[in-house]
Amino acid sequence: MEHKNRTLSLSIVSGKGGVGKTNLSLNIAYALFNAAQNTLIVDCDLGLANLDVMLDISPDKTLNEILDDDALAHDIIYKLENSGLGLIPAASGVSDLLDLDEDQQMQIIQRLESLLQKYHFLILDVGAGISRTVRTFSQMTHKRVVVITPEPTSLTDGYALIKVLYTRQKVKDFYILVNMVESEKEARRGFERIRAACSKFLNLEVNYLGHVRNDPIVLDAVRKQRPVMQFAPRSTASRDIMQVADTLIQMRAEARQYIADTPPLQMGEPVT
Ligand SMILES: Nc1ncnc2c1ncn2[C@@H]1O[C@H](COP(=O)(O)OP(=O)(O)OP(=O)(O)O)[C@@H](O)[C@H]1O
Ligand SMILES: [Mg+2]
Repeated sequence: MEHKNRTLSLSIVSGKGGVGKTNLSLNIAYALFNAAQNTLIVDCDLGLANLDVMLDISPDKTLNEILDDDALAHDIIYKLENSGLGLIPAASGVSDLLDLDEDQQMQIIQRLESLLQKYHFLILDVGAGISRTVRTFSQMTHKRVVVITPEPTSLTDGYALIKVLYTRQKVKDFYILVNMVESEKEARRGFERIRAACSKFLNLEVNYLGHVRNDPIVLDAVRKQRPVMQFAPRSTASRDIMQVADTLIQMRAEARQYIADTPPLQMGEPVT
C-alpha cells in the first residue's frame, strides 16, 4: 500500500498572547531532540518575538518559499545544531497564505509533508487568538497543545479558543500545558477549571499535558538568544520541559497506529 506516516503533528496555540508558546515550542523540540526524536518546528506566527530572533539566526528562506516551484523543498529547512532539529521560519506575511485558494493550501500541506519522513514530530508554533491564520494552521495537525497560565484571563481566553476550534473547525484532541506556575498543584487547579468548562458547556473532554514552572532563568536564556534547554539544562524550567517531552514521546508511541493511518497535515473544515 501507500507509505505510512510516522510523524506526530502538534500545533501550539493559546487564547491569550505572551504565555510562552514560542519558548515552549523551541525547548520542547530541543528536549525531544535530546531524546533522539527528530523534530521540525514551523514558525506560523507573525508575532514579534519569532523563533529566528529567539535563536539569533537569520535564515534566508521562509514558509513562503515552499510555494516556489523552483525551490528545493529541503533547502527551506534551517538545521539547528546541524542535526535532526529543523526549523522553517515564519513567512514574511503569513496572512498571504490565507488568500491562497484551497489548491494552494493543499500544495503547502503536501510540500511540508514531503519533508517529514525523517521527523518523529512536527511542531507548528501558531500565533495567539482565534484569527483565520490560527484556525487554518491549528486544524491541520493531529493534536493541539493549548498553552495557558494560571491567570484568569488566560484561562477564559484558552477556553474561548477551544470553543471556536471545536464548534467551528470540528477539531478535538486538545492537550493543556500550564506554563509559569509555582507548583504542579497550581497547574492542576488551572487545568481543572478549563476541563470543567469544556465538559459542561461543550461536552468535550480535554487532556492534561503537563506544566512548566515559572523560572527566571528562562528570561536569561531569551536574552542570550539560546534555548533554555541548552543554556541551563538542569534548571527547573528545563526539567519540567523534559517531562513534557517524555509525555509526548509516550503519546506518540501509544498513537502509533492512528499516526500511521492519518496524514500529518490535513485541510479540515473551510475556515471562514
Ligand atoms: N516558564 C517560564 N518562566 C519564566 N518566564 C517564561 C516562562 N515561559 C515563558 N516565559 C517568558 O514569557 C515571555 C513570552 O514568551 P513567548 O514569546 O514564548 O510567548 P508567546 O506565547 O509565544 O507570545 P506570543 O503570543 O506573542 O507569540 C518570554 O519573555 C519568556 O521569557
Ligand atoms: Mg510566540
